[in-house]
Amino acid sequence: MFSQGLIDRLEGARRVVVLTGAGVSAESGVPTFRGKGGLWKRYKPEELANPSAFIRNPELVWEWYSYRRKLIVGIKPNSGHYALAELEGMFPHFALITQNIDGLHKAAGSRVILELHGNIMRNRCFECNRTFRSIDPGDEPRVPRCSCGGFIRPDVVWFGESLPADQLSRAMEAAEGAEVFLSVGTSAQVQPAASLPLVAKRNGAHVVEINPERTPISHLVDEFIQGESGEVLPQLVQAIKA
Ligand code: OAD
Repeated sequence: MFSQGLIDRLEGARRVVVLTGAGVSAESGVPTFRGKGGLWKRYKPEELANPSAFIRNPELVWEWYSYRRKLIVGIKPNSGHYALAELEGMFPHFALITQNIDGLHKAAGSRVILELHGNIMRNRCFECNRTFRSIDPGDEPRVPRCSCGGFIRPDVVWFGESLPADQLSRAMEAAEGAEVFLSVGTSAQVQPAASLPLVAKRNGAHVVEINPERTPISHLVDEFIQGESGEVLPQLVQAIKA
């Protein structure tokens, strides 16, 4: 499944970077956004995942994120998440950049995680940005309010919003310095995350994509490995060890 070139590069690599998307959590039972059964097939992002939707109908947006939080509570990391946590310990410099907001990489034991799109378990005030960690959405049928009077929203990135600047700049820096870059379980359709593998490639990295389906960047990467991350990643770890 793996080229000798990839294994050789990984064996000698000091800087390895991985970008993950919703596909990595699919085998844990978290729905992806696009493709078969994807959330954006059933729901409209413009009604749920942007600031004007929240201003228009905060109850609806809060309810939708409560539903998604409930989906995630009780869900466990899968073998792909665990393999990535193990991979982290195999290189002197390793960065895991994720578009996922489900916290499963942390639950699997990964330590250096750059969360580009926030975290669904965290909340912040829509007005003053104060963060809140302890709200149980299940106990909050109505949108809670901050002491400043503002509505509290999930601390995730919505369409039209900027990514957290510190996470994005660290992700860019990691991509620029990567010797091997893995793009795993992402449709590579949402910017700026989708450009990170290309930034890495432009700076000399060996770029590998792992996905059951081809994406818009598949023809630009050095290797496309067709398969599910929960199968491919543990085998990759074994191949490096061997
Ligand atoms: P998508 O739903 O767009 O893409 C999921 C990708 O995972 C697809 O390319 C699938 O082929 C692939 N996939 C499915 N099952 C897999 C498996 N078992 N192993 C590996 N890959 C698998 O999800 P993202 O690319 O993460 O943004 O979407 C990017 C962003 O769009 C999300 O972070 C979200 C969404 O709108 C925000 O909410 C800001």
